[in-house]
Amino acid sequence: MNSLIDKYNIPGPRYTSYPTVPYWDDSTFSPEKWKETVIRSFHETNAEEGISIYIHLPFCEALCTFCACHKRITKQHSVEVPYLESVLKEWKLYLELFNEKPKLKELHLGGGTPTFFSPENLKTLLGGIFETVEIAEHPEFSFEGHPNNTTKEHLQTLYDLGFRRVSFGVQDYDPKVQKAINRIQPFENVKNVTEWAKEIGYRGISHDLVFGLPHQTWEAMEHTIRKTMELKPDRLAFYSYAHVPWVKGVGQRGFDENDLPSGEEKRRLYEDGKKLLQDLGYIEVGMDHFSLEHDDLYQSLIHKKLHRNFMGYTSSNTQLMVGLGMSAISDSWYAFAQNVKTVEEYQKMVEEGQIPVVKGHVLNEEDLIVRRHILNLMCQLETTFNENNSFPELENALEMLKEMENDGLVEIRGNEIKITEAGRAFTRNVAMVFDLRMMRNKPETRIFSMTI
Ligand SMILES: C[S@@+](CC[C@H](N)C(=O)[O-])C[C@H]1O[C@@H](n2cnc3c(N)ncnc32)[C@H](O)[C@@H]1O
Ligand code: SF4
Repeated sequence: MNSLIDKYNIPGPRYTSYPTVPYWDDSTFSPEKWKETVIRSFHETNAEEGISIYIHLPFCEALCTFCACHKRITKQHSVEVPYLESVLKEWKLYLELFNEKPKLKELHLGGGTPTFFSPENLKTLLGGIFETVEIAEHPEFSFEGHPNNTTKEHLQTLYDLGFRRVSFGVQDYDPKVQKAINRIQPFENVKNVTEWAKEIGYRGISHDLVFGLPHQTWEAMEHTIRKTMELKPDRLAFYSYAHVPWVKGVGQRGFDENDLPSGEEKRRLYEDGKKLLQDLGYIEVGMDHFSLEHDDLYQSLIHKKLHRNFMGYTSSNTQLMVGLGMSAISDSWYAFAQNVKTVEEYQKMVEEGQIPVVKGHVLNEEDLIVRRHILNLMCQLETTFNENNSFPELENALEMLKEMENDGLVEIRGNEIKITEAGRAFTRNVAMVFDLRMMRNKPETRIFSMTI
């Protein structure tokens, strides 16, 4: 196993999109083209499956020094109302593109910290959206809650608005790790919010754990997993720590690179963590998620409905996802678009009546084919070729896959590629074989975190 880690632990994307953000070709993109693809997607799918909305709520009261999300640190809660007003204005700009009422199937509040906002302000924001849409029959509404500031009132207010899923950021319970990542978060806080959520009626309660954090040892990881088991969340994200200090604005500091577990130590945290989670009744779903058997995430896996997008794995999927808020990414299936990355620019553009997208990518036929293969691999751990979904470098890809087959990571049967149990941890590496945009334009500098 060690030699495989040496061989395959290279920088690589997490494939929450294809093409991945660094390979978007801005020359294919303009706000006008973006709008055209949104209109096309809306017409094709609104009546049947409906649409999804992602709202990025960027504020956090304190900086966690491991965090790779787009956030704005402030203790000033006066930022809440102007920000939510901008989000509603941005949504209005999208409504102008639609000729019928959108059917809202999925809604996710992410961040930053959605629970930075008061329950009352969240209610105003969501009320403003809900009065313009028809809500689908079985909506899937979820949010990210910070255990240190989620109140019972947050949980009740959002439940009353139709939210049934919540994920809490746990990361690790070890005091030394918490100190290094500047996130002091007692178990009591996580226990309270999880128990309140259960009492209120949430299903699909999730905890985010991260392996590979500074000073994290197996003892710390095991303790974190065993404490987590006392609360039995329905599902878990078990993320590999993404160390990307070169990305502007993420603020990863406060610890030395030498404090991070080595590649091999990190791999052990994952392997042993995975084994323990499985012994405790959790089933691995996709690349970095675990779920109890009753949970929708596992059910969507066995019914081949699992999907992956910018929020990670989801149990349902709409073709059109509109991302609102600073830095939010939208997906019309035919194109991706990202909003401006500062709160000030975001608010300015929206005030001027512009959909605040500043970069994006319109997918060509080949991108759409590759995107499907990568989604199949990331979600179902298998993909199949036929004459309709081939691409010019297929021979080359098969060569690389043969080497992976010799290493026991994949099985190749005729036109079918399957990732083996041993290959699961290397799913990103298998997907990279299909990443034509990256192959044709190899990065000269580090742009991705390590695959393991
Ligand atoms: C936006 S935060 C969740 C909500 C809230 N801000 C909180 O921290 O509880 C989303 C999750 O991303 C994960 N995350 C953030 N930075 C990461 C990194 N560098 N590597 C891996 N996971 C990361 C964490 O598990 C975190 O809980
Ligand atoms: S982990 Fe959550 S609370 Fe911490 S900085 Fe990132 S988004 Fe904010």
